Amino acid sequence: TPTVPSLWGIPLKYLSLVTLAVQNSLLTVIMHYSRVSATPDHAYSPATAVLTTEILKGSISLLIAFSRIEPSEPSRIKRLVSDVFSPDCWKLSIPAILYVIQNNLQFVAVSNLQAATFQVSYQMKILTTAGFSVLLLRKKLTSPQWVALLFLAIGVGVVQIQAGGAQLLEDGASRDHAMNPIKGFLAVATACTTSGLAGVYFEMVLKNSQTDLWVRNVQLSLFSLLPALAPVFYLYAAEPQNGWIATLFRNFGGWAWATVSVQVFGGLLTALVIKYSDNILKGFATSLSIVISFMASVALFNFQITFTFLVGSAIVLVATWLYNHQPKRAESISWAMGWP
Ligand code: C5P
Repeated sequence: TPTVPSLWGIPLKYLSLVTLAVQNSLLTVIMHYSRVSATPDHAYSPATAVLTTEILKGSISLLIAFSRIEPSEPSRIKRLVSDVFSPDCWKLSIPAILYVIQNNLQFVAVSNLQAATFQVSYQMKILTTAGFSVLLLRKKLTSPQWVALLFLAIGVGVVQIQAGGAQLLEDGASRDHAMNPIKGFLAVATACTTSGLAGVYFEMVLKNSQTDLWVRNVQLSLFSLLPALAPVFYLYAAEPQNGWIATLFRNFGGWAWATVSVQVFGGLLTALVIKYSDNILKGFATSLSIVISFMASVALFNFQITFTFLVGSAIVLVATWLYNHQPKRAESISWAMGWP
């Protein structure tokens, strides 16, 4: 029987899920703070952040992929190059483009919504992931899961209702940064759609081949470079006289680097969660992060706890639990890189 990979005796499956929950909360809070704490003319460029994240994530994945090639291999570099540029590598271009769009939209959403509101609305990912899984992977959902999805939509709706009121409270506290909840929710809705489609597509590519996850990650990052570079070129073209480093990394301070680091860590963790657990459990980990980031928002941003927010969050959490609470479906776990 295959051994379950573990670190310090804890199965990687649980370690990666719990770490992902903490990472999700940390990202929401740090990203929100890094965006709203600066006035618009002192803000850093999200496009630069997304590109930097992809370059770092791709480089780390490349090192891991290299270290996983047998030392007995005559030329490890040649082997790595042929693995990365495999005939089916183009398949990763689809999730790569979708993730770049999602990662840019995340900045729009987090800049225009309160941290906790963003986190709760982002749970709609579970809905889109389910939809695309049924459509593309022909996955079957149980009746309680469909009910859970309905509750999820209702819960997110309830949280949206209170966002308008809470908006006034936060604007009163900080006039530096005007948030636009409609823009924020549109960005979240689109990001949820790309998240679901990209996740399911990545799942499909991973499931249908033996290729190492880290090689897939390198391919994903490589295909992300072009779409991530496009808005950066646009930024540079607007004022080429200052030099590209000065233009792209303007106001790129400690908080921006913190956001990038947490994003890099999160991307690698997502890959691990997909490998050692599955997308369904991943949804559960992110819903746990709602509670964590909600408490952090109360402490850090004077977030006002409204009754409506509590009701909406409770519905989202119960729905997430209901969705995840199902008889174990062997196929959803065993596809994740070959151990039952
Ligand atoms: O919220 P969701 O799970 O859709 O977010 C996935 C995030 O993880 C995206 O930021 C994406 O760029 C990243 N990712 C990654 N490597 C993978 C899969 C996702 O970096 N293999």
